[in-house]
Amino acid sequence: MNIRPFTIYDASILAEIHAQSMDTAWSEQEFLTLLQTPTHGGWMIIIDDQAVGFIMVSLLPPDAEVLTFCVLPKWRKQQIGQKLLQHFLTSCRHQIHNIFLEVAETNQPAINLYVKCGFKQIGVRKNYYYSSPNTPINAVVMRLYKK
Ligand SMILES: CC(C)(COP(=O)(O)OP(=O)(O)OC[C@H]1O[C@@H](n2cnc3c(N)ncnc32)[C@H](O)[C@@H]1OP(=O)(O)O)[C@@H](O)C(=O)NCCC(=O)NCCS
Repeated sequence: MNIRPFTIYDASILAEIHAQSMDTAWSEQEFLTLLQTPTHGGWMIIIDDQAVGFIMVSLLPPDAEVLTFCVLPKWRKQQIGQKLLQHFLTSCRHQIHNIFLEVAETNQPAINLYVKCGFKQIGVRKNYYYSSPNTPINAVVMRLYKK
């Protein structure tokens, strides 16, 4: 198992993992565009030469935001997501004090993982997401504050 930063050359694999993980997939072109933004980046986790998950963040010290984060379905519940999130938290510990994210209030696996890693709810965004067929879902806004 290896965790490494991803680059624009990984856009297609990020799009593939994202499509298998999320209701609304981001295209390879969208990842390319995001990765050309200097504040954006992240890490992917490789097992047996296969990328099985990644975390994409934006860094604007002293703040950071988790933009998207996923693990392929067949690799879940094996602490891979937690390792990725912890890797990010450790990597940015000297420059970042606040980490923000939004997560659907129905996404209990992700909320549990964030709480386990120290995030706390700081607000709710009403009707932030839409699932099919056009059902609004609130987003929980979470923050991890590090001194
Ligand atoms: C959220 C996600 C990244 C978690 O990845 P993962 O590798 O399966 O998570 P881990 O195995 O590292 O789990 C760590 C902790 O998260 C929580 N958790 C993970 N999956 C869970 C589940 N299905 N039900 C309840 N809690 C869960 C638990 O607290 C777990 O700790 P534990 O194993 O001691 O119980 C993964 O489920 C995923 O890709 N989901 C789809 C995309 C998504 O929702 N991303 C987040 C967007 S905000």
